[in-house]
Amino acid sequence: MIDSAADGGDLLITDIGQLVDPGEGAFSAPLEIVTDAFVWIREGRVVAAGPMSDLPGDAAGTQALSAGGRVALPGLVDSHTHAVFGATREHEFEQRLAGASYQEIAEQGGGIGFSVLDLHARSEDDLVHLSRPRLAASARFGVTTVEVKSGYGLATEQELKMLRVVARLATEPELPRLVPTFLGAHAVPVEFAADRAAFVRLVVDEMLPAVAAERLAEFCDVFCDQGAFTRDEAETILRRAAELGFGLKIHADEFVPLGGTQLAVELGAASVDHLVAVDDAGIAALAESDTVATLLPGTSFFLRLDRHAPARALADRGANVALATDFNPGSSMTQNLLLMVAFGCCLLGLTVGEALRAVTRGGALALRRMDRGILMPGAVGDVALFEVPDYRHLAYHYGMSHCVVTIKGGEVIWRRAGGGSRFPT
Ligand code: NIG
Ligand code: FE
Repeated sequence: MIDSAADGGDLLITDIGQLVDPGEGAFSAPLEIVTDAFVWIREGRVVAAGPMSDLPGDAAGTQALSAGGRVALPGLVDSHTHAVFGATREHEFEQRLAGASYQEIAEQGGGIGFSVLDLHARSEDDLVHLSRPRLAASARFGVTTVEVKSGYGLATEQELKMLRVVARLATEPELPRLVPTFLGAHAVPVEFAADRAAFVRLVVDEMLPAVAAERLAEFCDVFCDQGAFTRDEAETILRRAAELGFGLKIHADEFVPLGGTQLAVELGAASVDHLVAVDDAGIAALAESDTVATLLPGTSFFLRLDRHAPARALADRGANVALATDFNPGSSMTQNLLLMVAFGCCLLGLTVGEALRAVTRGGALALRRMDRGILMPGAVGDVALFEVPDYRHLAYHYGMSHCVVTIKGGEVIWRRAGGGSRFPT
């Protein structure tokens, strides 16, 4: 599959004020914090990390980068985005501020439908051109892996076009690594409103095999909610996707619990995403599974919902949790994953440690990538350096762009011009 692999740079990062490694522990386990630390990357992979006093002698001679006392984390993982789209939808933002709901806007032909019509009119080159800076912006927040969904095509050729855009951008060294997800069942297109079953057949019989044949996506996702797809429709699509070798994801329980969470757990999905309206049965199902609860607090904030996902209950019951931006032009127009860390704490009730694990190891688990979101030997050499005096400022000093250097596979892919002033508070 695609996931632009590390090409293999060598880099020794020294003088890290605090090295924060979520490690492989349980979701609520404390983070491992090493002060005055190094990370040594060879051929794109971490070979050693720890206190400067343990720096191996044979690391000498590797190209070095002093972190100057800054805080280092594994490159952040944004495990849920719709980052490929054409026009933005600020007019809908204003409609929502004036009182319209996301569903009302969708029913009037706006929402996903607007982005679908817009995308149909654009060339693959145009979409590459528009999406490149949007993904580059993710790297400026310390994000080194981004999952990107299709779903603004809703017709075979259009879905393939979107996924080819992702495949092209995945080869660009300056961008984060990309993980492509097919979301053909994002909305029922207007022309299928009277025959939903025909659209489900199209997804199952034509789109999924075509995407599989070109190896354009690793995961298949379905939007299972009121106004989108039913539990049974989602099951039909996801079962066929599993047969074709796709990993599974589902948008579920954002507005109304339809049983999508339980379905996803039953099918061994990598993640269930949204969960604002998840019920006790859904929480219980997630608590006993490897399926990651991916929470998107930017969306419930931006849509002005009156509640947020029950992160505390999920964490207390032992579920694995990820936080992601859901970056898209309708319901969450931001690439700032650290803002989701602050929201995860202040709106969802997570601890700072849990919220940081949720954007590193949690995101990696939601993408079934065991080699990232941690800094153990063998992990990808992806590191983000932040200009904060203490890692807790990543949540506490919220809404800021604290990242100063982003490293992917041992190569610097972004550096803040001038390096930034030390620890502005
Ligand atoms: O995750 N829930 C469905 N899909 C997106 C919204 C996409 C859009 O509005 O364009 C979401 O919020
Ligand atoms: Fe989404």
